[in-house]
Amino acid sequence: MQKADIGLIGLAVMGQNLVLNMHDHGYKVAVYNRTTARVDEFLAGPAADTGIIGTHSLEELSVVLKKPRKVMLMVKAGEVVDAFIEQLLPHLEAGDIIIDGGNSLYTDSNRRTRELAAKGILFIGSGVSGGEEGARRGPSIMPGGNPAAWPQVQQIFQDIAAKVNGEPCCDWVGEEGAGHFVKMVHNGIEYGDMQLICEAYDFLRRGLGLSVPEIAAIFDEWNRGSLESYLMEISSEILTYQEADGTPLVDKILDAAGQKGTGKWTGINALELGVPLSLISEAVFARFISAMHEERQRAAAVLPGPDTIFAGEVQEYVQALHDALYAAKIVSYAQGYLLMRAAAGEYGWHLNYGGIARMWRGGCIIRSVFLDNISQAYSADPDLENLLLADFFAGALAKAQMGWRRVVAKCAELGLPAPALSSALAFYDGYRSHRLPANLLQAQRDYFGAHTYERVDRPRGEFFHTDWTGRGGKVASGTYNV
Ligand code: 6PG
Repeated sequence: MQKADIGLIGLAVMGQNLVLNMHDHGYKVAVYNRTTARVDEFLAGPAADTGIIGTHSLEELSVVLKKPRKVMLMVKAGEVVDAFIEQLLPHLEAGDIIIDGGNSLYTDSNRRTRELAAKGILFIGSGVSGGEEGARRGPSIMPGGNPAAWPQVQQIFQDIAAKVNGEPCCDWVGEEGAGHFVKMVHNGIEYGDMQLICEAYDFLRRGLGLSVPEIAAIFDEWNRGSLESYLMEISSEILTYQEADGTPLVDKILDAAGQKGTGKWTGINALELGVPLSLISEAVFARFISAMHEERQRAAAVLPGPDTIFAGEVQEYVQALHDALYAAKIVSYAQGYLLMRAAAGEYGWHLNYGGIARMWRGGCIIRSVFLDNISQAYSADPDLENLLLADFFAGALAKAQMGWRRVVAKCAELGLPAPALSSALAFYDGYRSHRLPANLLQAQRDYFGAHTYERVDRPRGEFFHTDWTGRGGKVASGTYNV
């Protein structure tokens, strides 16, 4: 029997579609699933007459694979991945490759790369984005891990990945957990983009009083310009979808958001690395508030909002909202890139920032024309300190900022929550401020805890303590930053 180029474990939606995608590209694939009946169902159903090899044990899987063996796990992140690795090891030999394509926490991938390298096994932790359709027709793939494994899987991965202008949306991201880290940031950005679109919908609906079909038409129009993106496109389609009685389905959907955790990880990571990732964090919090559904019903009966009703030119505000969305989106990506830079510094990864934008241009959930502009900004200056400072984005923000301010102000006036739009504006104004009120904050810290401060008229790194009340001691607390 012809041996398989690659084995895949885990025949849920993503796994099945990746296998079929690999098969379409001429690869011989072997599959295994813990509930082995699913292997048989797959072979009798979607994989009928393909020659895909079904196996019913890990031993059988290891026997049918070409060496060095390549085994891709598409199973639930966490302990299940470790359990499969443990069970696989007796059937593998030095130089074999294990690929984890789930949404794993990058610190787990850091650990797995090291632990497996010690056993001679090459590990790849890879982000795979694009949902069912992407997996089948071409996802965005973000592999990281043991660099020695990359040449062995590069051809398969780049063949099955989405293509933009002929370039695959897949390249080596970096060492250890870098691939899963970049996928985590992708998901955080996905949370931010989705929340921004939801805030825009809310402003148009509750703020300006537009109907669902009118909003669908606006999103459709925006999807033809600088806001063109997969998420904008599907949002317009969602708003167009009607139930049998002709009413929009979106109106019947309960406003309580779920989440699987990658957005939350992004926020936690930003706090740990000291990065002001405000928009994505607010997007996670907005999901939490939405999930407090019953409590919100009680609060709505008690807590007043303003009586203001929108008065003004609807068309003007639609344009201002477009600008607000664009500007906030720029901030969100700038924050995401700040986080990647911080992680690269912390872990010693060599991330290719322009390459990451190119990987996200196609196949994945956040794909958009906007990513071309990011890729160009990093091509022009690979060491760009902050995306906001690139000529293209600084110019775009200069044009959009007044509309953005008007929308955020209007939201406050009307009592509409816009946490992503407004936190992005606060970041923008904070980031461009010569002087922030942290002088007072430092004084407060020094007053109550002798935490010391630096002075504007002295070099950085010199610390001072004042006995503010005349009753304090002379001992300053240590100067350290978390
Ligand atoms: C992708 C997505 C995917 C994610 C889902 C659900 O890139 O294909 O990011 O990986 O798991 O979109 O995420 P939440 O349940 O957290 O919204």
